[in-house]
Amino acid sequence: MKKLYLVKPLPVGVINPLIYGHFSEHIGGVFYDGIWVGEDSSVPNIHGFRKSLVEAFKAVRPSVLRWPGGCFAETYDWRDGIGPRHSRPTRINWWYQNDGRMEPNKIGTHEFVEFCRLVGAEPYIAANITSTTPLDIRDWIDYCNSPKGSTAYAKLREANGSPEPLNVKYWGVGNECWGGGGNMEPEIYAHEYRKYAMIMRNSAPGLELFACGPNANGWHWTERFLRVFDTSSHIMNGYSVHYYCGASGGCLDFTNDQFYHLLSKASFMNHIVNQTWNLVCGFNCQNQCPLVVDEWGCWHPGGSGPTKGYNLFEQQSTMRDALVTALTLNIFNNNCEKVKMANTAQLVNNLHCLFLANKENFIVTPTYHVYDMYKEHQGATAIKTAFDQEEIIYKNPDNQREEKLAKLSVSASVKDGALLLTVANLSLTDAEDLELESVGMTLGSDADITILHNDDVHAHNTFDAPDAVTPIQTTAKADVIHVPPASVVTARIRIG
Ligand code: AHR
Repeated sequence: MKKLYLVKPLPVGVINPLIYGHFSEHIGGVFYDGIWVGEDSSVPNIHGFRKSLVEAFKAVRPSVLRWPGGCFAETYDWRDGIGPRHSRPTRINWWYQNDGRMEPNKIGTHEFVEFCRLVGAEPYIAANITSTTPLDIRDWIDYCNSPKGSTAYAKLREANGSPEPLNVKYWGVGNECWGGGGNMEPEIYAHEYRKYAMIMRNSAPGLELFACGPNANGWHWTERFLRVFDTSSHIMNGYSVHYYCGASGGCLDFTNDQFYHLLSKASFMNHIVNQTWNLVCGFNCQNQCPLVVDEWGCWHPGGSGPTKGYNLFEQQSTMRDALVTALTLNIFNNNCEKVKMANTAQLVNNLHCLFLANKENFIVTPTYHVYDMYKEHQGATAIKTAFDQEEIIYKNPDNQREEKLAKLSVSASVKDGALLLTVANLSLTDAEDLELESVGMTLGSDADITILHNDDVHAHNTFDAPDAVTPIQTTAKADVIHVPPASVVTARIRIG
């Protein structure tokens, strides 16, 4: 039995609902046969969007969806994606060299925003600053946001079926500009950012602009970028960070050490968030640079998904991926005064996805269930937790050295007269009983418990067995919360 202190008088901050955001790129099977089946499809759809996916996604209350990439964004011309669908041009997709697939532009700005509205998410557009000009981006913003009838682009938008503004508030100024997005030096990007952001800000009121930050803990990028970025001009509302914890073993086939090693790499997100934030504070840029972790997740070797590699980057999602999801969301909750937005990559038929879909088949993954179990954290006040952490010792499979991994990942928040406690137990062998000790609040005697667990951490959902990993709901006395090995457990308890 371990005491877990829940300290209400020590709020960390409000958990921005945008932390529970997602990412959808024009790549492999994300849109075509994933989100989009087309209006004439025999697959049940809403205006061409896969109905089962719309309904399941809406149920986890996605706050924001990023689009159209990713790297795809960096050769995307938004004008290709407007007007009658049958007359839109087919182009070479950024990822063409990887999978030989072309971009038919059936999904464009209107369709993307419509999908966002259907599921209740705010649209977030990553603008192409590598191969289109500031004027092109100004025109895109004009097209999206200018009042009905006010400009030539507003009239074009109306002619294309949307008289009212699409009201896109969140805009990324490039994507991975240290790599696929122009291969820039940070100083060059800082100048580009200032140029684009100045024009973008003046193209519509109330926009929020996000700068491209580092890959993982690439602090050199942040330091060199912030040296050149002019804080006095105040044209940044967030600083993007990407981190893929990568792979360890196969997606479906991994040893115990590989299991722990992946979770250890996922835990590194805590260091990335804090190190990047320390630098931001060092430059006194806290107001301009709240962190926007707009791509994160596992990146397993391809081929484990239903199309066996046809859909680029498509991967399965096991109980191990659910634990990565839970511990990453706990890190964001516990650092919610630093993290403004986070987008798991990517939504369907891709890396770390919530859904797998192929023709009439559709399933939710264990990662989806974690989002569902955590959704009440959105907009809640995160509070501090304290407990004696234990460490798991395992052998790093890459070098056979002994390494340590914290056994429990915990976060807690209060909202609407209830506490939500979310726990990931990373031990493969040891259960944990947490004796709750509340400070500054009185907890009710009963807890609504949800448990995501499978005796086999390789377990995953398939079209034939869609509920192999599915949560169990129960009620229990709130004084002690039982957490099985390798499980995610949430407890919702009324505050007296
Ligand atoms: O999510 C796949 C790719 O990973 C994205 O296009 C890119 O931004 C990142 O490198």
